[in-house]
Amino acid sequence: MNAQNLIDTARELVAGDKGLLAMDESNPTCNKRFAKLGIPQTVEARRAYRELIVTTPNLGECISGAILFDETIRQQKKDGTPFVKVLTDAGIIPGIKVDAGAKDLAGHPGEKITEGLDGLRERLAEYSKMGARFAKWRAVITVGNGIPSRGCIEANAQALARYAALCQEAGLVPIVEPEVLMDGDHTLERCREVTEDVLRTVFNQLYTQRVMLEGMILKPNMVVPGLTCPKQETVDEVADATVRCLLRAVPAAVPAIAFLSGGQPAELASARLNAMNVRFKSRLPWALAFSFSRAIQQPALEIWRGEEAHVMAAQKALYHRALCNRAARRGEYSAAMERT
Ligand code: 13P
Repeated sequence: MNAQNLIDTARELVAGDKGLLAMDESNPTCNKRFAKLGIPQTVEARRAYRELIVTTPNLGECISGAILFDETIRQQKKDGTPFVKVLTDAGIIPGIKVDAGAKDLAGHPGEKITEGLDGLRERLAEYSKMGARFAKWRAVITVGNGIPSRGCIEANAQALARYAALCQEAGLVPIVEPEVLMDGDHTLERCREVTEDVLRTVFNQLYTQRVMLEGMILKPNMVVPGLTCPKQETVDEVADATVRCLLRAVPAAVPAIAFLSGGQPAELASARLNAMNVRFKSRLPWALAFSFSRAIQQPALEIWRGEEAHVMAAQKALYHRALCNRAARRGEYSAAMERT
């Protein structure tokens, strides 16, 4: 493991107020999103969609790294150019999702454990040869009646830490993603309590598994009320609760926190990230960045709908969201940007 390379890559991934684009939906997830819009659920449609994304003009101005799925990292543009080369030429670092998905956790009804550690060392070596310089693993924590349980939090935290240690051994920066889901009617306070518990447990496990904090990026949820909670706090209240929670649980050695969007409306995700940077940026030990999937891609996907004729308009929408989120990192995002 070359520690300095990991540190440099982690810094590069959040340099210039840019962020990450999570274009790593698994085939079932991508197909589900296609199905809703009447797009054929085929390898070719997924390839065309990913070509639209990676060839978006000037995307590298706002996006520093793109997380790919196994199918996508092996694909090419119609003219035969590998996606990895297209990204690298655009100044975007290729990354790869390496978990094998969240499965039911035995003995824990309603809870999930992320699998994929078996054979991971060998897969990481292959991805590294293909040009990936960072990786992602997502753990899913559900909030509900009597959950999350200790067993679920600890099993997921340990898997994240073992994954992160293997990544660093292979020279890849691990993106460590423990996602507390927004589904449910729980309050913002309950989300804060669970998120803090999860993050503390994750960082204990990262320490136990000897993960170098300077060479990783944390990808957490924002602290938000459940989707169906009657009380929905303001943008500033969400920003305050999120930063307060992170300050308690995330060591200062971590270079960056890149949020997932988790199903928040795209504009709200930008507004919340912006509020955090406006209110706290100068006082924080880590950069507050983004690693959005839906909050960057969904508007573009809805414009594209599988139609060649809509590619340019979809790319424009994708670039716009990336630009809004770069502005949010600077604390310069405003609703007026949405009208341009
Ligand atoms: P969302 O931003 O759509 O939550 O996706 C982020 C991600 O990478 C989930 O693993």
